[in-house]
Amino acid sequence: MNRRQFATRSLAAVAGAALHSGFGIAAVIHSAEQVPGSIADSVIQKARFPEGFLWGTATASYQNEGAWNEDGKGESIWDRFTHTTGKVRGGVTGDVACDQYHRYAQDIALAKQLNQKSQRFSISWPRIQPTGIGAPNMKGIDHYSRFVDALLEAGIRPWCTMYHWDLPQALEDKGGWPNRDLAGYFGEYAGILAKHLGDRCTMWAPFNMPWAIAFMGYAAGALPPCRTSFSDFLKAAHTLALAQGEAHRAVKAASAKATVGSAYEMAPAYAKTDSEDDRAAAARYHAMNNVFFLEAAMHGRYPKAFVGEPPLDVMGYKAGDEKLLLAPLDWVGFHYYTRRVVSDASKEKFQSGGAFSGVEIESNSPGGRDPYTRFRAGMPTVGPLTDAGLEVWPRGMYDLVTKISKDYNNPIIEITESGCGYLDEPDGELGGRVPDVRRIQWFKETLAELARAMADGAKVRAFHAWTLLDNFQWGEGYTERYGLIYTDFRNQKRTIKNSGLWYGRVAAANRLDV
Ligand code: FCB
Repeated sequence: MNRRQFATRSLAAVAGAALHSGFGIAAVIHSAEQVPGSIADSVIQKARFPEGFLWGTATASYQNEGAWNEDGKGESIWDRFTHTTGKVRGGVTGDVACDQYHRYAQDIALAKQLNQKSQRFSISWPRIQPTGIGAPNMKGIDHYSRFVDALLEAGIRPWCTMYHWDLPQALEDKGGWPNRDLAGYFGEYAGILAKHLGDRCTMWAPFNMPWAIAFMGYAAGALPPCRTSFSDFLKAAHTLALAQGEAHRAVKAASAKATVGSAYEMAPAYAKTDSEDDRAAAARYHAMNNVFFLEAAMHGRYPKAFVGEPPLDVMGYKAGDEKLLLAPLDWVGFHYYTRRVVSDASKEKFQSGGAFSGVEIESNSPGGRDPYTRFRAGMPTVGPLTDAGLEVWPRGMYDLVTKISKDYNNPIIEITESGCGYLDEPDGELGGRVPDVRRIQWFKETLAELARAMADGAKVRAFHAWTLLDNFQWGEGYTERYGLIYTDFRNQKRTIKNSGLWYGRVAAANRLDV
């Protein structure tokens, strides 16, 4: 697997829970005929969601908006990355993407047509503060203000991610996330957003996938700014956790109606064997990839993610930081795509001298993924793979949701992203419809497992499918399609896929056999 595939697969799957409760990989294979890991039809038919359950989709600014240099927007690290030769598959950029900056009214109308009740979107920081600092660019504010109004008019709850990876390039030039000053800048930015939108938007999450921002950007070098330093990764992680706290305080101070939650990446991790070492490694994986920022927010501390003591000095931790980290979330939001199988590497020597060794998925390098956490994490291929290369493992949704419910005192949960990449296209023989049956099946099984977790007591309030329409899929460019709506990037034509029509019926009926 090359680094690009590694990055994409990791992005949608970057974490793991220590769910070593004895179920083995093979134990869930029910019968020889059945697809490994699949959920029985009877379970799908029984699944029910409560009245008022919030069905939605999730999107992100850089992946959808285009208009990369309009209305005073500054350059982001994603602009810089995509404009650099050789970075993105096919040499494409998000300069236009889905052109949603200009076409948002149409896209919101489509969401309404699909009976959607919640829309998770992100705000591009450099549209609001072109260099990440200073007075807001009112054209940027006005755009999102209109966007929020259009959602409310369509009866859709606006749900704002303040940062889905498009850091102002000027702040990267000041050192990026390893520079602790960014926590303060981010707090100011968050306050600006809440001041101007907080009368209408009540749902706020500081970061999409903070672990990926830190690790993929600064240790693995797979995402911009493409650095490969473990100490930068640790510093970035600490700044992000501090920034989460700053944003929490700033948003609450600016808007009495604000509720603050999260959009963490999570994937349940299963210990490769029942050995104590592998179970401990899976626990470290869960601590590092799933709940690092959740622990910081809820308890003002970091979980046991490291072999030995946490490297607080490398992280730049200062006395009193525990108070700054605290940001008690009103609800807990996280993604689910797939799972990990984790094994121990604590007794081996880490040989790559601090540079990234490429082991998130291949998992065969000496010493494990990094010198601090010392585990190997692989994505099994027991279940079928999506066209984007992720294993289909619906059971992971149940395991993850029940674990977070148990460990965090049964919080309100919102699924912030969940979905699958399949390449189905409009079919001329079917009048141009998109018969994406594998996506419908993926959602049926994953949602049936969510319903089962809810029946067992998990307080899940909302589900956001990734994603409303096919968009710019980071380093994979336009070669992966996660949308419920097909985007023809040659002419921006949207076609609701069969999965989108199905999801619209689900949203109306609160059941899956529709
Ligand atoms: C997640 C990202 C999202 C999208 C999906 C497929 O990791 O948050 O932007 O790319 O993967």
